[in-house]
Amino acid sequence: MKVLMVDPYNFDVKYSINPWMNTEIKVDKKSAIAQWENLKNYIITLGVEVVVMDSSPLQPDIVFAANAGKLIGNKFILSNFKDKERKEEKALFRNWFSASNYKPVSISENLTWEGEACTIEIKETLLCSYGYRSDRDSYNEICKLWKTKKTKFVYLSDPYFYHLDVCFCKLNNDTAIYCPLAFTAKDREWLEKNIKNLIPVSLDDALNFGCNAFVVENKVLISDQISESLVEMIQSLNFQVIKFEVSEYIKAGGGVKCLICTLD
Ligand code: ARG
Repeated sequence: MKVLMVDPYNFDVKYSINPWMNTEIKVDKKSAIAQWENLKNYIITLGVEVVVMDSSPLQPDIVFAANAGKLIGNKFILSNFKDKERKEEKALFRNWFSASNYKPVSISENLTWEGEACTIEIKETLLCSYGYRSDRDSYNEICKLWKTKKTKFVYLSDPYFYHLDVCFCKLNNDTAIYCPLAFTAKDREWLEKNIKNLIPVSLDDALNFGCNAFVVENKVLISDQISESLVEMIQSLNFQVIKFEVSEYIKAGGGVKCLICTLD
């Protein structure tokens, strides 16, 4: 397994584009770097290859690599960020991917889509979230590039759950954890019907980034702010829980998974 992370040296909260971001609450830069290093070093011990892209002083959110886009084969579909504050990240990701021998591709400029944070493949279905950050129409192009068999649109309407990866996490093809309150009744029904083991997470746990986990085989890397009952729930599904402090990143509305872009 290979992943991309972006260094944390320029991470900060300098604007507010989600309800977590409050520019008056200062980021502790030293802790942010230590939290990121700790996560990265642990991932390496799992045998995962971690490649690191340089951050940019003009882009304080670029550390959230899950928003870069999505790798399909050798093609990297670049995100079109919704907010003007993040739009410039696209060029930086494009440069990195072409310099790293991938083929960066763009979708139409007028459509927004924020990468693997918004779109998750489970079994043969691509869960295509839209609403806050990604346009529904972006999937006409995304799905062609992704070449998936089936798609299911998922509408996100709660400002706290602006990306799919903050309210839904696939543990394996039959198992996922999710925050029911983040979804419409219809979408909930679909998820319940189509995912064998679909485990609801409390609102508290979801708001502590308990759905924003990174999974490596049976290991679930997750925010240390989740409840003991969520830990036990995940363990009962035969996964091992490894907790990480990501409190500095939560100030920007991100957890463990947000910091990682998978390159498989
Ligand atoms: N501050 C960032 C934003 O609002 C956080 C991104 C979180 N990333 C994620 N994969 N959910 O865009």
